[in-house]
Amino acid sequence: MTWLITGGAGYIGSHVVRALAASGHATVVFDDLSTGKRSRVPAGVPLVVGSILDGDLLASTLREHGITGVVHLAAKKSVAESVENPELYELTNVVGTETVLAAAHACGVKYFVNSSSAAVYGESGIARVSESDVAIPASPYGATKLAAEGSVDRYRALDMATCSLRYFNVAGSDAVELRDDSVANLFPIILRNIEENERPKIFGNDYETPDGTCIRDYVHVRDIADAHLIAAEMLVKGELPAVMNIGTGTGSSVLEVVRTLLDLTGSSLEPEFVERRAGDIGELVADVSLARKVLGVNFTSDVREIAASLIN
Ligand SMILES: NC(=O)c1ccc[n+]([C@@H]2O[C@H](COP(=O)([O-])OP(=O)(O)OC[C@H]3O[C@@H](n4cnc5c(N)ncnc54)[C@H](O)[C@@H]3O)[C@@H](O)[C@H]2O)c1
Repeated sequence: MTWLITGGAGYIGSHVVRALAASGHATVVFDDLSTGKRSRVPAGVPLVVGSILDGDLLASTLREHGITGVVHLAAKKSVAESVENPELYELTNVVGTETVLAAAHACGVKYFVNSSSAAVYGESGIARVSESDVAIPASPYGATKLAAEGSVDRYRALDMATCSLRYFNVAGSDAVELRDDSVANLFPIILRNIEENERPKIFGNDYETPDGTCIRDYVHVRDIADAHLIAAEMLVKGELPAVMNIGTGTGSSVLEVVRTLLDLTGSSLEPEFVERRAGDIGELVADVSLARKVLGVNFTSDVREIAASLIN
């Protein structure tokens, strides 16, 4: 089997490529390098540079490399950017996913693992959100990820074996060159603040949480990569649920993350509390019982371990 990894030059995708390769799977990366990096693609793994909006290039890549399964991660991922530019998110995350699905289906690809997100759940008011809870996204980003899941489900209803993995807040790294350096995620933002000796900003300290800052379920990228590997292998053997939460089931506050990074880097900076950001919700933690049961995983990395993986 050969797997096409869209977004494989990105932060999570590059960890997925390595996890699949380490288990003996052949992979091909398809990425437009808009936020991805050529240097993250391992030697020996073919890289096709192009957009997931280019159905012809996708189809020729699928045929040329004899692709039998797709792991689809290519997307835009910033909540804040999606509020400013919802059209870009609709185009990349919804139309892009449709284009990948249509090309895969036309080329006889049977297996499709889709990268989804906890952002599909809005402010549910539920302590641990499960896959059966109603998903009402609180941001255009979340809405595009939910719409993409719907597209995947339509192909599932045809003849594709699919699974959308709703990952919670992915952080950490297995290698310096694979680290997330985007402006969209908390850990890299705070580490950049510390490097530039700027006070880390915390958006909102008036949420209904113990320290007033947002609570999220931070999960190590290594575990996310393993979840993809297990899901891909299981899809080939049989059915998986249409959607599955991937997290640890434990929440940590933004203040806790910031304090941990300040502590581990020996920084004396103090966080600065500023206004809430549009689209952010107070608390979001995964109910992970389905993934535990179906995939047999139990991810337990805590914020300190994740933070330590980012500090030399
Ligand atoms: N990072 C997180 O905490 C998190 C949480 C939940 C879900 N996700 C999802 O995980 C996936 C990967 O996210 P990431 O954190 O690795 O982000 P990333 O930006 O590092 O990776 C996205 C990759 O997709 C590529 N890409 C973007 N638009 C493209 C296009 N039109 N055509 C081809 N390639 C394109 C980029 O170049 C990049 O390599 C995304 O689908 C994201 O929505 C991320």
